Amino acid sequence: MNYISTPEGTRDLLFTATRALRNTEQCIRATLEKRGYEEIITPVMEYYDVFRHANPAQSQEVMVKASDRNGRICVMRPDNTTPIARVAASRFPDEAFPAHIYYCQNVIRAVADDHGHRGEVLQIGAELIGADGLEADLDILSAAFDALAGAGAGFRIELGHAGIYKGLISSLGVPEETAEEIRRLIETKSFAALGDILEPYRDREAYRALKAMPQLFGGAEVLEEAERLTENPEARAAFAYLRTLLEALSRAGHRDAVMIDLGLVHELDYYTGMMFRGYAGGAGASILRGGRYNALCGKFGRSLAAAGFAVDLEALTEAGPAADGAEGSGRIRIALTKGRLEKKTLALLKNSGYDISELESPSRKLIFLLPGSDVEVVLAKAADVITYVEHGVCDMGVVGKDTIMEKGGSFYEMVDLGFGKCRFAVAAKKGKDVYGGYKMPVIATKYPAVTKAFFEKKNIDVVTIKIEGSVELAPLLELADAIVDIVETGSTLRENGLEVVEEVAPISARLIVNLASAKLKKQQIQRVIGELERGLEE
Ligand code: PRP
Repeated sequence: MNYISTPEGTRDLLFTATRALRNTEQCIRATLEKRGYEEIITPVMEYYDVFRHANPAQSQEVMVKASDRNGRICVMRPDNTTPIARVAASRFPDEAFPAHIYYCQNVIRAVADDHGHRGEVLQIGAELIGADGLEADLDILSAAFDALAGAGAGFRIELGHAGIYKGLISSLGVPEETAEEIRRLIETKSFAALGDILEPYRDREAYRALKAMPQLFGGAEVLEEAERLTENPEARAAFAYLRTLLEALSRAGHRDAVMIDLGLVHELDYYTGMMFRGYAGGAGASILRGGRYNALCGKFGRSLAAAGFAVDLEALTEAGPAADGAEGSGRIRIALTKGRLEKKTLALLKNSGYDISELESPSRKLIFLLPGSDVEVVLAKAADVITYVEHGVCDMGVVGKDTIMEKGGSFYEMVDLGFGKCRFAVAAKKGKDVYGGYKMPVIATKYPAVTKAFFEKKNIDVVTIKIEGSVELAPLLELADAIVDIVETGSTLRENGLEVVEEVAPISARLIVNLASAKLKKQQIQRVIGELERGLEE
């Protein structure tokens, strides 16, 4: 038994780090209090049913559970807004509204340590409950801007609106599953796949706007562009509203810190109006999230309009006052996948006009600045490419869809590079009836997450065994009934008497981009993408 480590996702914070964190916290507290927000504290543990009821879509795996004396399931709060909505809806007298509330307390979620994500996050946030409309939105948005400005960070906040996607998708009238897939592709800015899924709806009014949504981010000009794309009344009302917010924020002195992202489509069960995210220099993920959520308090028995935001204090503090969100500063660092995709990726860089001579000559060097450019290249294993891009230490990466499907993560999947084509497939010994009989099929694979997701969707319960390489051996040695693996030419299967039972998904190399870099270094990233796309054409 090891008595000196802390649970996954948690860490100790020692003197300098604690001091820095408390400094940031004090600045934001002062800002919020000056704006009339008053602090409340809610229990660290709540009944599981509270969160389940508030947001049935929230995955229960992220909640850390315990039980009380009576055996009722409790959870460590996975978010702060739900308990605050519970308190306001159930305990505040009518005259308390509009209520300006703030909090500074932890949220706790079950995370895997080896991804470097924190499971215990100290958040400071504000909620304005019982007020709707422009003035209320500006109140909460200004509090968010002032909070970050007061903390001394170089930052940007991007605005979006839940009404855009909701209006467009309802006019398209597609089944729920397709709508969710479209939403997901917009969220991850997967341009090519979004184009493909929308193709059958080419002659519909919403087509052009839906297809353009992931690209509509930047300054006020994106609103004009969006208005040219659709007559959808709900979407147009949202554009007009965002313009009003933008103008008001500019007048309040935030012009340089505000951006628009019409492709903000996360948590749409929850957000009902404006939504926003904040980014600060060194942090690879958003450090602030917020929006209008008019339906939440109603779940606790009292219909109250509400809007709010939460800041990740540790991430903001680490992003630091020196962080500058200025576009065009510094280099663009691209992580490339070693091995299978390496040769073709290097050829692409060459085609795109980059000098890769140093990369071609054998050496043990790991970071290369391409001569005459602002592009730096690192070579890494596929899964590590995702890790580096997700954490923002690399702005972009080239990685196979197989690794993306297996590892997941938050990043934009901007370009399907089209090379490294192969497929995920279920394969077994020739003639084997994998799903027949009463026995649970045993599947060997290097890709347990892909395997689990595939069979869950098919409603088949399987036993998965993780194998590190040459997975084809497992059915040959009778360890497994079948494998889920990459098939490229098919020769490994053929030479070993195996055959494809069914296809799982097509695979090719993708260009992924860090969430913050896409916003804070937009010009540079777009330029590199343009160069690579031209390189692809040649
Ligand atoms: C991959 C995959 C298959 C093989 C498929 O393995 O796991 O074994 O390539 O290619 P094919 O259809 O062209 O025969 P890889 O060589 O990447 O490594 P591994 O054998 O160590 O898993």
